[in-house]
Amino acid sequence: MRYTNEINKRKTFAIISHPDAGKTTLTEKFLLFGGAIQTAGAVKSNKIKKHATSDFMEIERQRGISVATSVMSFEYKGVLINLLDTPGHKDFAEDTYRTLTAVDSVILVIDSVNGVEAQTRRLMEVCRMRDTPVIVFINKMDRDGKNRFDLLEEVEKELNIQLHPMTWPINSGKDFKGVYNLYDKNLVLFTANTKAVDEDDLIRFDRLDNSLLDEKLGEKDAMVLREDVELVDGVHGQLNVADYLQGKVAPVFFGSAINNFGVREMLDTFIRIAPVPRGRETSKRHLAADEDKFSGFVFKIHANLDPKHRDRIAFLRVCSGRFERNKYFHHVRLDKDVRFSNPYTFLARDKDVIEEAYPGDVVGLFDTGNFKIGDTLTEGEDFYFTGIPSFSPEIFKEVVNRDPMKTKQLEKGLLQLTDEGVAQLFTQFGGNKKIIGCVGELQFEVIQYRLLHEYGASVQFNAQPFYKACWITSKDAKKLDDFTRFKNANIAVDKDGFLVYLAQSEWFLNTERTNNPEIEFHFTSEIH
Ligand code: G4P
Repeated sequence: MRYTNEINKRKTFAIISHPDAGKTTLTEKFLLFGGAIQTAGAVKSNKIKKHATSDFMEIERQRGISVATSVMSFEYKGVLINLLDTPGHKDFAEDTYRTLTAVDSVILVIDSVNGVEAQTRRLMEVCRMRDTPVIVFINKMDRDGKNRFDLLEEVEKELNIQLHPMTWPINSGKDFKGVYNLYDKNLVLFTANTKAVDEDDLIRFDRLDNSLLDEKLGEKDAMVLREDVELVDGVHGQLNVADYLQGKVAPVFFGSAINNFGVREMLDTFIRIAPVPRGRETSKRHLAADEDKFSGFVFKIHANLDPKHRDRIAFLRVCSGRFERNKYFHHVRLDKDVRFSNPYTFLARDKDVIEEAYPGDVVGLFDTGNFKIGDTLTEGEDFYFTGIPSFSPEIFKEVVNRDPMKTKQLEKGLLQLTDEGVAQLFTQFGGNKKIIGCVGELQFEVIQYRLLHEYGASVQFNAQPFYKACWITSKDAKKLDDFTRFKNANIAVDKDGFLVYLAQSEWFLNTERTNNPEIEFHFTSEIH
């Protein structure tokens, strides 16, 4: 319990959204509040145009997609906040899902005009798998959005979570006048482009029947606000923080990220109620965050900036104890002791070498091929963290080597890229055919590009008629053996040697499941 003070100072979270809902803009405003950046636009420009912290790869610049998951740490009102950025593009969704295993809570951004979108749904599903506490930010209130009651109903229904409004908007679009803070009981009038945050802008209303409200909003809007607040208060009452922490209720804020409006209210609530670094399940036992001995796991591996250097950065989330520079830790999978002379932290835009890190922190470790996703470091104990899943890919392609002279390089490249979690690699059972499975088309482009530029290997892909990969297990070894022999053409092994059934269609999959009740088909595999 030596590090309880350090743990209680920290909050580690991610902002998630469907692309274009405003995640990058909101991130930037948070960094402004944290004093980590000075000017608006700093984060935005990172995303695409210029070369920047989150741009690890040229392809990212070319395609304008935030591929990398970067980490930004900043301090706000005495709280150390670690913000893990996630790519919004759906082809990189798996990256995002894994990042969600390394956070203790999330902020979900929803566009008030578009409401719940495809990626919003999938991300929330992952949050629900882990009961991650969620705060919702309804963004773009400066645009003519949906009716606020309808929108909340839509979000509740579609995302299957109970909402609890913390602020309440007065109109939207060009009539947007501001938000009433239901918790602090004050009114914040909307001004575009709020650069600095001035507490004096708040008008306190302990009672909304005050005539000052009519003066500030006009009689009609004041009346609507009174009615809305009565209704909302009547339905929701006080926020039950325990329910939020269990992922059952999501506090909701309204605002406009681009105008830095409604953001501070959310951030203030976030630091008050969001969970501090929590304990985790391991293969052996529950691990408490305040245990003295160090442990952590790798949730993300990224290629280095310079393609001439093969080393990569492994992102390690500290789960317990204290990480120290140059101290030997136990790499559980490899059963060897390793130490790090240049571990990074990520203070907003700069990377700094650090001496120590505590639960909730993310450390960047230089890696020359020792790590793969899910790897655990400890002070000697043998366990690994559970719940870091690998999802079934959705597109499958055979890798065709176009340059036989580079076979070795290709094999090395494929192994390393799959260690990074860019794609999954399957080898056809009893054969040599290598099949890559990805969630999106774009990942094949990334793989082709990186194999060529980083490993000098030139490949082509041949589409394969599969739609899902299921990991198969059975208590009956003979049945499993018969099945794999009989279904030879559809069986492969994954990189770790586990058996996989590649289904051509849902129909085939269902038929095999019905015909082979002794065999279990798994849609996710835990990486180990
Ligand atoms: P993302 O990371 O979730 O993909 O979204 P991002 O922040 O990049 O925002 C997507 C677009 O929405 C951007 O416009 C951004 O300026 C705009 N936006 C963000 N917050 C608000 C808001 O509160 N109100 C309004 N009206 N717009 C908002 P863009 O045209 O794609 O980029 P840019 O040219 O403005 O940089």
